[in-house]
Amino acid sequence: MQKVFVLNGPNLGRLGTRQPEVYGATTHASLAEHLVETGRGMGLDVEVRQTDHEGEMIGWLHEAADAGASVVLNAGAWTHYSYAVADAAALVPAYVEVHISNVHAREEFRHHSVLSAKAAGIIVGCGVGGYDLALAHLAASGNPGEAG
Ligand code: DQA
Repeated sequence: MQKVFVLNGPNLGRLGTRQPEVYGATTHASLAEHLVETGRGMGLDVEVRQTDHEGEMIGWLHEAADAGASVVLNAGAWTHYSYAVADAAALVPAYVEVHISNVHAREEFRHHSVLSAKAAGIIVGCGVGGYDLALAHLAASGNPGEAG
């Protein structure tokens, strides 16, 4: 099965209680469970992780790069300024950038992403359903990190 990491950055572990009017009522635990299940139905071996620590996220991106695994990446606020996360993301075979909220309808600082230029795709403002769309895209496009 094609391995896909879903990597969530800072504050996304608070899903369900963090600004539910912006991010919805789904908790990170139930999102993770749902994505593993949905991924299985698409032939993907999905692993979901969340961290509030930038170095840990960079380590996970290196792990995905070494495993030749694609990534669904919601880097939270790092999206807007972390060149370190962007450099690490550039090492994986392919990543889809996801934002639960419509960042373009929000504060100006959320309009720019340092991740978008090298993303295989960008899904914004579709709620937590955006992760399903990202998995569907990776399932349809195969894993550029795997030979054959
Ligand atoms: C977010 C949008 C970011 O601006 C914010 O810092 C987040 C979540 C989203 O999923 O909509 O933490 O990436």
